[in-house]
Amino acid sequence: MRDWGNGQAFRLADALTGVCVFGATGSGKTSGPAKHLAYGYLANDFGGLVLCAKKEERRQWQQWAADCDRSDDLIVVGTIGKWRFNFLEWEVSRTDASGGLTINIVAILDEIAGAIAKAAGESENGGGDNKFWEDALHHMNTNLVDLPIFPGLQVSLPLMRSIVSTAPQSLAQIADANWQASSFVEFIPPAPAPLVAPAARVWIDS
Ligand SMILES: Nc1ncnc2c1ncn2[C@@H]1O[C@H](COP(=O)(O)OP(=O)(O)O)[C@@H](O)[C@H]1O
Ligand SMILES: [Mg+2]
Repeated sequence: MRDWGNGQAFRLADALTGVCVFGATGSGKTSGPAKHLAYGYLANDFGGLVLCAKKEERRQWQQWAADCDRSDDLIVVGTIGKWRFNFLEWEVSRTDASGGLTINIVAILDEIAGAIAKAAGESENGGGDNKFWEDALHHMNTNLVDLPIFPGLQVSLPLMRSIVSTAPQSLAQIADANWQASSFVEFIPPAPAPLVAPAARVWIDS
């Protein structure tokens, strides 16, 4: 795939193992080895998944694909354009043993919340107040995921937002006709009673 001369090369067999590049920020990992190998993969018709953490990374890969005449093969998944990935639905409906478990779905939501907090400049392992709010968010996420799962509704961020913004504030409110008419929670089909009663109590307690 890449001939380095003197019998040295990056071969298909190398591409089927891992590549690890070490270097300080700005030392040329991306513009050096990454670009060199990416051109090798692209020119040899490889498929692959590129996860972009930095904003400029998508544009860079679009350029690399164009340089190797692979633009037509590129599928960009993101908030712009037509391709999306419903990570919640994927996690909920995974068929292996750990698929659909609330604890794993909540772990994804916690991870995303942590990444957003980090991007907003909050310290990664700040204790004190942060810990309290992280625990509160984790607790709320757990309830927000369980509630749609019990009656078999699709877990989605819009549904979770609707639930949290119209949840009852007290046990008395549940009997209030005004609240019933306006709350999204009221429209969730009832789950079997043994599941709903404890869930409702935990929700209101928290
Ligand atoms: N050998 C080199 N000589 C001069 N500039 C370089 C060299 N290698 C990389 N650069 C430049 O340094 C900058 C950072 O490189 P980059 O590949 O993004 O680093 P990394 O991915 O390791 O953080 C880029 O602007 C790149 O063009
Ligand atoms: Mg880099």
